[in-house]
Amino acid sequence: MQKNLRTQIYTLLRRRQCNFIRSKQRRLFSSQCKSERVCKTEDSERPEETRISQIESQYTLHFRNSPRKHPLGLRKVWTNPMVHHIWSPEELDEACKYIHRKPKSFLDKCIFFAVRNIAYKGFNFFSRYDVKNPTAKSTVWRLIFLESFAGVPGMVAGCSRHFRSLRKLQRDNGWIHTLLEEAENERMHLLVVLQMFNASLLTRTVVCATQFAVTMPLFLTYLINPRILHRFVGYLEETAVYTYSQIIDAMETPGTHLNKEWSDLKAPEIAMSYWHLEKNSKWLDVVKVICADESHHRDVNHTFANMEDWDTTNPYIDEHIEDCRKAWQRDEDCYEEGDAAKRSMDGKSK
Ligand SMILES: [Fe+2]
Ligand SMILES: [Fe+2]
Repeated sequence: MQKNLRTQIYTLLRRRQCNFIRSKQRRLFSSQCKSERVCKTEDSERPEETRISQIESQYTLHFRNSPRKHPLGLRKVWTNPMVHHIWSPEELDEACKYIHRKPKSFLDKCIFFAVRNIAYKGFNFFSRYDVKNPTAKSTVWRLIFLESFAGVPGMVAGCSRHFRSLRKLQRDNGWIHTLLEEAENERMHLLVVLQMFNASLLTRTVVCATQFAVTMPLFLTYLINPRILHRFVGYLEETAVYTYSQIIDAMETPGTHLNKEWSDLKAPEIAMSYWHLEKNSKWLDVVKVICADESHHRDVNHTFANMEDWDTTNPYIDEHIEDCRKAWQRDEDCYEEGDAAKRSMDGKSK
């Protein structure tokens, strides 16, 4: 009898507890639905500029918990932790010039033919891309597709070199870093473009299918002969520089589609943070630094394809060290020299 009573009381308590939890969950759910409804109605009414700032807020997501200022006075904006080259205005003009490496060997000629006639001209034809006066829509499609593909070879080559180093129990001599930096840089190009423009469902599907189709063949190619992949990327980057320089020309030429639609666009926050651009930079400035990045990828990959020995030191290692030195010295206001530094060391204020 007592046992039955105990069971009944226990069941009753469990039910009450469950009801309490359920009602709590219902309240939470309804409040979430309300906030979602508010968000949805606000989203539909918001203009394009607000939408971009809303996306930008994703990059400050990890700062949302605290409304207070950072104790070290740091700006609450997401920054990419990878060190990469920051282009000066003098370097930009030179870097954006189209340079072509004439193919010498039979293999080079085959790769160049494939890139120029099949990949580049074929892509222009199927995407209806007018090189002289492209529309904004065809250019966005092209940028999203190409940047999503361009991030693959660097990662494939970097991974292959990483596993090679592990397999052979020997150091890599700095190649992995350059290759991974290239992959990261291409991914940042993609993120920047995606912050400016939306990708349609068709674009996303094509991007996924392409990545699925090309990644394994590129891995196998790199295992068989790394020179083929580096040369292929070198010529692909040549076409990328050509495409971006044509886009820059179109944006700067009055009357073209891109001049009408893109010349007044502001640079997104993520791009200003990544390339340390000035506050009032425009989308045109971003396209120029992307073009300069592509020219660097072109030089790196042609250089790697020319290397006789795969175990020699990466010739770009000094550039990385210089970029690192500039990166930690960039925030000049944070550094003290001479007497001011000594006073800080002694614990005395200025
Ligand atoms: Fe790129
Ligand atoms: Fe590139």
